[in-house]
Amino acid sequence: MGIGAVVRRRVMTKIKVKIALVTGASSGIGEATAERLAKAGYKVYGTSRRGAQAGKRSFEMLPLDVTSDESVEAAVSEVMRIDGRIDLLVNNAGFGAYGEFHKTRLDRIVEMTQVNVTAVVHLTHLFLPGMIARGSGDILILASTASFQPVPYITVYAATKSFDLSFAEGLAEEVRQYGIRVCALCPGSTETEFHEVAGQRQHTKRSPETAKKVAHVGLTAMAAGKTVVISGFSNWLGAEGVRFVPRRLVTRIAGGMFRPGTK
Ligand SMILES: NC(=O)c1ccc[n+]([C@@H]2O[C@H](COP(=O)([O-])OP(=O)(O)OC[C@H]3O[C@@H](n4cnc5c(N)ncnc54)[C@H](OP(=O)(O)O)[C@@H]3O)[C@@H](O)[C@H]2O)c1
Repeated sequence: MGIGAVVRRRVMTKIKVKIALVTGASSGIGEATAERLAKAGYKVYGTSRRGAQAGKRSFEMLPLDVTSDESVEAAVSEVMRIDGRIDLLVNNAGFGAYGEFHKTRLDRIVEMTQVNVTAVVHLTHLFLPGMIARGSGDILILASTASFQPVPYITVYAATKSFDLSFAEGLAEEVRQYGIRVCALCPGSTETEFHEVAGQRQHTKRSPETAKKVAHVGLTAMAAGKTVVISGFSNWLGAEGVRFVPRRLVTRIAGGMFRPGTK
């Protein structure tokens, strides 16, 4: 290949290849989403506190603790230095903590709101102006079926996920005029490290979905321009069904399902 062709190819690659940043890509839904995007031809920056680890991945891992301003600054500068933009931001990093609110360590609860809420706002606010200037960009935000009603014993987690859903839907409407798409992905129980990290057992008899399936549902919905997607028909039925039941009753039922010591 002549030098002209090489240069042309490099230029075309720079123009065409879309750049994605996926938070929490060291495991679960984030990892599956990053893998899927890499297969689809995106250049993917996966991020997590663990950063690069042994093992085969089809995307690059950067160390990023989303609760630390310095860490966010370092990772974002690195990405901007190399590629100058992010076309798709996947705000996926998140965790829960199971148990009675007053017995749960305060630092853990505060950290949860930082990861699930503050960091989502922070990263979105950092990358959105560039997307608006270019007139295109996608933002996928991990909400949950817990976004649709209060859930006692994961009370703070469910509240953070309600925030994520509301934020995604409100922002989607705001930025539609600039050619930006925002989508909230709402999975139900999914096979990942989530339950172990949260100290939470399975609370439904339904079998959990795989992270791969959830990633597929989220990316397909985003590509179709949806602002909200609930993964799985029975999850959809449950999440939408609560609208027709008095809120207090829904919370009481959820409390019964999640109460420690109940099966
Ligand atoms: N699994 C479910 O049943 C389920 C259901 C509904 C919604 N979701 C949502 O899906 C998202 C992904 O969860 P998952 O199920 O895939 O759980 P997971 O397997 O535990 O993955 C969570 C990811 O978040 C990262 N993370 C945690 N704290 C972080 C921090 N401070 N800074 C940067 N990264 C951090 C973790 O990496 P490091 O530990 O390396 O930082 C990990 O990569 C979460 O937002 C969760 O709320 C999960």
